[in-house]
Amino acid sequence: MDQSKIWKGNWTFVLAAAGAAVGLGNIWKFPYLAGESGGGAFVIVYLLCILFLGLPIMIAEIYIGRYGRKSPINSVRKIISDYGLNKFWLILGWLGALAGLLILSYYSVIAGIAASYIFSSIPHTELNPAEYSVEYYSNFKNSPLLMIFWHSLFIGVTCYVVGKGVVDGIGKAINILMPILFFLVIVLCIYSSLTGEFIKTLSFLFNPDFSKITPGVVITAMGQAFFTLSIGMGSIMAYGAYMPQEQMIGKTVLIVIFLDTLVALLAGFTIFPIVFSNPELSAFVGKGLLFESLPVAFHSMPLGSIFHSVFFILVSIAALSSSVSLIEPFTAWIEEERIFSRLNGVIILGVIAWLIGLGTVFSDNIWAEYEIYGMNFFEVIAILTDQFMLPLGGLLICLLVGFCIPKIDLEREIDLSRNLSNIFNICLKFVAPVSVLLIFGYALS
Ligand code: PFF
Repeated sequence: MDQSKIWKGNWTFVLAAAGAAVGLGNIWKFPYLAGESGGGAFVIVYLLCILFLGLPIMIAEIYIGRYGRKSPINSVRKIISDYGLNKFWLILGWLGALAGLLILSYYSVIAGIAASYIFSSIPHTELNPAEYSVEYYSNFKNSPLLMIFWHSLFIGVTCYVVGKGVVDGIGKAINILMPILFFLVIVLCIYSSLTGEFIKTLSFLFNPDFSKITPGVVITAMGQAFFTLSIGMGSIMAYGAYMPQEQMIGKTVLIVIFLDTLVALLAGFTIFPIVFSNPELSAFVGKGLLFESLPVAFHSMPLGSIFHSVFFILVSIAALSSSVSLIEPFTAWIEEERIFSRLNGVIILGVIAWLIGLGTVFSDNIWAEYEIYGMNFFEVIAILTDQFMLPLGGLLICLLVGFCIPKIDLEREIDLSRNLSNIFNICLKFVAPVSVLLIFGYALS
């Protein structure tokens, strides 16, 4: 690989991987899934999945990327050729590239809505704020043109950043965006914990009702663990290729996972205290939590309209730092193979993701009555990617690194103590693959 693409210093990789990880998954999905799936019960299963599936898979993914020093597809190709493996493993690279495009297609629609909300706090008029908010969101969803405008803007900015390159585009953007993101999330969390129902939130998120742990909750928690850590599809593998050789993989992954989990919990402590403090609102409303309930809650708080805008700036920044990582694996491959320049490659991929995203835009309006197994287009793509493609990618990564790479080669690259290294091996070879298979088995039965 061109040495100039390797990020300087240890922090750029940490911030980039944390940027890929922290996104709509933490701020939009985690709180509403926790709300729908019984609070503490969901949080416990989710944390276990992060620890026993997420941690080993993220280490293995970075290992492949840094070993190959190429796009995920070609890094896997290098492993295949160096270790004389079957070409079947290439499926891993392609599955990831495709999953990235599919996720970006809907991610950008939701991120676009969030960006538009920066400018739309509830006005202080005679109107009932809850009714106003529900109507505003429903009007928004019913106007495809407005949604397409914001969707296009978001994909455009994503392609611009990725098109500028690994160091000048992604590296620079991440170094600016991530500190702002951490600052905003802390400020917002303090604001809402002080003004809202902190204690109620604490018991909601950490007081588990074990009767609520159903197989469905376990599958959702696993899907969310993969989604939130951006593992199983090559984003982290692509970034691994830009990681300095002397950086410690094990320690770095611990920091990234810690930051991602911290932001998810801080997002919970930003959203629930203000939702709980408003008796008209419910925490169990699902996807609308962020776009319907939260604006109402902000409306009734001191300086609420300012904090409303700050909150949606935070969501947009988090989404952007993730969306660049969704399109990077495929872009890197196109550039490497010299099929097109990086800029042209990312524009073509952006257009494809944009077109698929129209399906998500139309899911709530002109295609609302078309359903597959009771799900609209958006739900099909979301479930296909985070509950099927990402776990399948994760399973293949475990099997490839766990069984096809000699332990001694792994240990040389992954700086874990002997005990930790043994635990890592057991998780990679048995715990993670068996859990994913069991969960798949249940879902298909
Ligand atoms: N981790 C991101 C989030 O939580 O919003 C979403 C994501 C980014 C998933 C990159 C997968 C990925 F490869």
